[in-house]
Amino acid sequence: MATILAIETSCDETAIAITKDGVLSSNIVSSQIAMHQTFGGVMPEMAARLHNENILFVLKDALDKANIKLEEIDAFAFTRGPGLIGALHVGMQVAKTLALTYNKPLIPVHHLAAHIYANEFNEPLKFPLLCSVVSGGNTELVFMDKHLSFKVIGETKDDAVGECFDKVARVLDLGYPGGPIIDKLAKKGQPTYKLPTPLKNSNYDFSYSGLKTAVVNLVHKLRQTNEKINIPNLTKSFQDVAINMIVSKTIQAAEDFKVRQVVLAGGVSANSYLREQVSNHFKDTNIEVIIPPLWATTDNAAMIAKLAERLYEKEVFAPLSISVDPNWHIEDFLKF
Ligand code: KG4
Repeated sequence: MATILAIETSCDETAIAITKDGVLSSNIVSSQIAMHQTFGGVMPEMAARLHNENILFVLKDALDKANIKLEEIDAFAFTRGPGLIGALHVGMQVAKTLALTYNKPLIPVHHLAAHIYANEFNEPLKFPLLCSVVSGGNTELVFMDKHLSFKVIGETKDDAVGECFDKVARVLDLGYPGGPIIDKLAKKGQPTYKLPTPLKNSNYDFSYSGLKTAVVNLVHKLRQTNEKINIPNLTKSFQDVAINMIVSKTIQAAEDFKVRQVVLAGGVSANSYLREQVSNHFKDTNIEVIIPPLWATTDNAAMIAKLAERLYEKEVFAPLSISVDPNWHIEDFLKF
């Protein structure tokens, strides 16, 4: 048991959380979304600059809220990757400085592994388990037979599912980020537009670029011929194909690997249709489903602290010379 201060700066949220003996004492998230919205997506250089501007205020807030002094922290954790290189550097440098100043261990945390462990704010993980990690940058099926053991059994061959939601929203001029907007509009629609389902019959891998191109081409064709686009129906048609691909591969893998639990993680796990389909399918089976609380689907440092607690017990500490890794693979999460 320990007091951990965790820092997350992998993309467009500057976040710091403090946990004391497994209990969350503070969880501060400063989102940059409003600043990136003007550009229709995250601008990496701007993200890094904004982390630099905000991080010490977020740190002060996190300490004040937890009513804790830096001297009382037992270890400093940070997101080492995957993520945007400039953004990751900011969090790492603050964590290194604090670890050096207070002579405490430095814990590098894998962002996607932390998204999986965020589910432990709801329920303990039970093994073997299958996790669908679905976000703006990743779409993976991860198998775990025990704690801290990750095996990627399927992944996207091109775009990530969240990226696809964002691009479809962009071509329809719906705003950024596209996922929550499409989720809401699709509730009012019917799946009347025919769209292709990629990699339907092949293993557990995903592909989203063909689906994205099909929507973009359809929208251009309808605009050229001045046909009215039924937005709720088009978003529903798109969402059904994009999400059903995750649902069907998750079900198949859960059965093939005979898992005890199915877990969702990442930004797209906020999708109401995905949550409903996965819960409904496993309702009457002996496979338990854990769905993260909505606050934990977006980037936060509480999940970094949650995984860091486990790494602290195992003394997974890094030297002060460690670097970030924007492409850190989840299976290599103990290699740094
Ligand atoms: O985990 P996250 O912050 O991304 C990465 O750091 O990679 O997730 C952000 C992604 C965005 O692409 C966003 O559009 C998507 O998650 N998203 C959703 C929903 N809420 C967020 N996608 C579908 N339905 C939602 N309700």
